[in-house]
Amino acid sequence: MHQALEKILLSEVQIATRVKELGQLIARDYAELGDLVMIGVLKGCTMFMMDLARAIDITLSIDFIATSSYGHGTHSTGVVRLLKDLDMDIAGRHVLIVEDIIDSGLTLAYLHAQFLKRNPASMRICTLLNKPARRDPAVGLTVDYLGFDIPNEFVVGYGLDYAEHYRNLPYIGVLKPEIYTH
Ligand code: IMP
Ligand code: MG
Repeated sequence: MHQALEKILLSEVQIATRVKELGQLIARDYAELGDLVMIGVLKGCTMFMMDLARAIDITLSIDFIATSSYGHGTHSTGVVRLLKDLDMDIAGRHVLIVEDIIDSGLTLAYLHAQFLKRNPASMRICTLLNKPARRDPAVGLTVDYLGFDIPNEFVVGYGLDYAEHYRNLPYIGVLKPEIYTH
């Protein structure tokens, strides 16, 4: 285990098993709908997105969007800034937004509202992790595909960062609080 971690929350095997299950669910649901566009929210989604896409056994497209991050803090400011827009037109297509983690839900609520204006045929949300205890009460989003509900702790690894570090860890762990209180 990396020395900056307090404990491992989800092992490589646990993650891989769940990602395969999600991929099968998604493939089954979209097999009849057709024209699936997976939209990953950079950069946290990267590991999850690539493993998930490989677990979905139907024809699909991939695109990415980038929003402003936490900077070097551990809590959302609530202000979302679009750093990179989609390359593709999503009008009339079946959109699946792929996130690493939903915390307050403010980032996703913003993206959901923006994408709706572009008239997709449908839009669903897939997130690897969810912190239900931290959801902003004003956010009324439904998560359609969920990897794991997790407790209210700051986690890193498998794409998730603290100050741009630890994204490369193959597992997900709880960061030692002294790392971000220094
Ligand atoms: P939200 O807008 O509060 O839902 O924040 C979502 C974004 O905050 C995620 O896409 C992550 O980039 C980041 N985030 C939230 N919680 C954590 C965490 O525990 N570890 C790392 N990043 C997190
Ligand atoms: Mg993110």
